[in-house]
Amino acid sequence: MRKQWVLGNWKMNGSRESNSHLISGLLAGLNAESSSGIGVCVPSVYLIEVGDKLAGSTVALGAQTISEHDEGAYTGEISAKMAVDCGCSLVLVGHSERRSLYGETSEIVAKKFKQALSNELTPVLCVGETLEQRESGITNEVIGEQLDAVIECCNSDELGRSIIAYEPVWAIGTGKTASAEQAQEVHAFIRNKLAQKSNALAEKISILYGGSVKADNAKEIFSMSDIDGGLVGGASLGAESFLAIYNSTDVIG
Ligand code: PGA
Repeated sequence: MRKQWVLGNWKMNGSRESNSHLISGLLAGLNAESSSGIGVCVPSVYLIEVGDKLAGSTVALGAQTISEHDEGAYTGEISAKMAVDCGCSLVLVGHSERRSLYGETSEIVAKKFKQALSNELTPVLCVGETLEQRESGITNEVIGEQLDAVIECCNSDELGRSIIAYEPVWAIGTGKTASAEQAQEVHAFIRNKLAQKSNALAEKISILYGGSVKADNAKEIFSMSDIDGGLVGGASLGAESFLAIYNSTDVIG
């Protein structure tokens, strides 16, 4: 059985006050018996405070990015070690906003992925195509290239300690969701590609869908055979909507 996950990506949203409200709501409504994983990826300045509030709960704490370097003169960056020191067990790597707005190439993303693994952080590798790439029929090539960068530098055991998130760029924050079938098609492509490295890896790795996941479309998306949960942006900023999405994982498997 693959682990199912619902992860929130708060992006650059929140304040100490609103975070506190959100976390209280989450903890109050959380079904602690669920076998699905739940986590929140929060702005780095809030990691410690949010981590303190989550202590003793089943909600995992994640960072939104880390540096590809160990330590040193990299103003503004946080290292994988620092994220762990602040209580993180997860980190997003290669989110499309990092790739498109901050020039993160697949090579840099692969270095961040390695940094996470060497520091016992679970990297959540985000991959996805733009609308233009989809319309030119090169979705699989784009996703394949993004995956190859990590497949080439990690063995199957290492890859097995990661989570993949397929997030079509055209569906992020736009209200446009890929249809469940469109998402399933790419998820199957990703799983087949990983199977070329190792069948056991492909069977066990969790592949999440992200891009305008909401309480009212989560069940349908999560019911697809190769979709193991979701990476949620906008709808993770409210406890009620995020929990409703989390509770939709019961249709999986
Ligand atoms: P969205 O964001 O759910 O707001 O589309 C998803 C993401 O970027 O991770």
